[in-house]
Amino acid sequence: MTSIITIANQKGGCGKTTTAINLAACLGREEQRVLLVDMDPQGHASLGLGRETADAAGLYEVFVQDAALEDVIVSDAAPGVDLVPATISLAAVEHLLADLPRRERQLADHLATVAPFYDFIIVDSPPNLGLLAFNALRAADQVLIPIEMSRFALDGIERLEDTIELLAEKYDLDTPLMILPTLVDYRTRFTRQVLSELRQRYPDTLLPVNIHYTVRLKEAAWRGVPVIEHCPRAVAAEDYRRLAAYIRDPRAFRSDTAAPDDTPASLGEELARLELHLAGHAGGPADQETRRPPGLQHADNVSDDITITGRPDEPVPACRVVLEYPDGGEEIKIAGDFNDWIPDRNVETLHREGRIAKILRIQPGVYQYRLIIDGRWQEDPANPQQIANLYGEINSILRVEVPDEAADAAPAEAQSEAPAAV
Ligand SMILES: Nc1ncnc2c1ncn2[C@@H]1O[C@H](COP(=O)(O)OP(=O)(O)O)[C@@H](O)[C@H]1O
Ligand SMILES: [Mg+2]
Repeated sequence: MTSIITIANQKGGCGKTTTAINLAACLGREEQRVLLVDMDPQGHASLGLGRETADAAGLYEVFVQDAALEDVIVSDAAPGVDLVPATISLAAVEHLLADLPRRERQLADHLATVAPFYDFIIVDSPPNLGLLAFNALRAADQVLIPIEMSRFALDGIERLEDTIELLAEKYDLDTPLMILPTLVDYRTRFTRQVLSELRQRYPDTLLPVNIHYTVRLKEAAWRGVPVIEHCPRAVAAEDYRRLAAYIRDPRAFRSDTAAPDDTPASLGEELARLELHLAGHAGGPADQETRRPPGLQHADNVSDDITITGRPDEPVPACRVVLEYPDGGEEIKIAGDFNDWIPDRNVETLHREGRIAKILRIQPGVYQYRLIIDGRWQEDPANPQQIANLYGEINSILRVEVPDEAADAAPAEAQSEAPAAV
């Protein structure tokens, strides 16, 4: 029996595509026959498996030009994983589908023609609730909802509830849901609170697996390979292997973390337990202190979360970089290599004299970044140094150099040479 799992969440950046690729790859590695269907016109799942899709036939040809689904399948995009690639033309399908009979069942009907060849079909859906996403949901036997911890404010759980209601009632679906926490970093109090809240609110749908935050996933996507290939020992490789084991056989799955049907711990108990975990595995702030090389700046005014986000295998923040913009009342956030592209993570914001200062504490090096101005991602208009990114957009480049004298003794307090004024 083929199982069709759709990865959905209308929020972008929560790990849908990463989960689709890596779950598919882990199932494929376990001798399962897997079809990964890329339903996002941006084609990120295809790119994440190293497939350049610009000229490839895909779902557009299937939906609109009557191509057979089996004819657009790319065999062995990863070991054990076949791929239905997506191209930008898929965006046009959204309204072309509107005129077709059984318009929201198109994907389900086409998948039925190839289902006998697969054990699992994993569908990566686009970050909106249009007709394409609706097709992906209708086709599903199970819907897996990744929830990103680091940006997911507690009030965001309300939005998740709305989504679940929307699926269940408005669209008349009673497909089982699975909630997968992603970008999990136990060392932030914020993450621990959200996990605890999720466990209490969704004891039945919360999966007994978390996907930890790790930069290895991003590197793997850039290389166009699953993380089990890029870095088999990465924590997220193990997480996705465990997710695959659970998906294959939930009853046989043994959870070594607290199972979701445990009596929900109080927030206090939960924190105490996780603090222990932290002390045992990760190294707390005190630990980090001893690791800081002499001569590097110690920021006293960093918040709790910033202090504890440094990882033992990551460089210790060194330079204080200030980027200034005129304060026109917009919300300006910054995301780049230095904060794993999580807007304003580890960034201090100061408003002063009609200007907004973004303060980063990063090691010398060359970084790419973008600004998020009132929610829109864009390059830094004040910075002429730019480079095209994987997705056809522009990233700005930030070069951070330590002043010579700072290299010896004094704490580094380098001012960025980049953006001066907008
Ligand atoms: N567990 C993780 N740790 C670190 N980075 C992650 C993790 N999961 C996803 N990412 C990164 O976050 C970004 C958004 O993830 P993606 O899977 O593309 O989200 P979505 O498909 O929901 O938009 C990507 O750059 C991806 O590499
Ligand atoms: Mg995606």
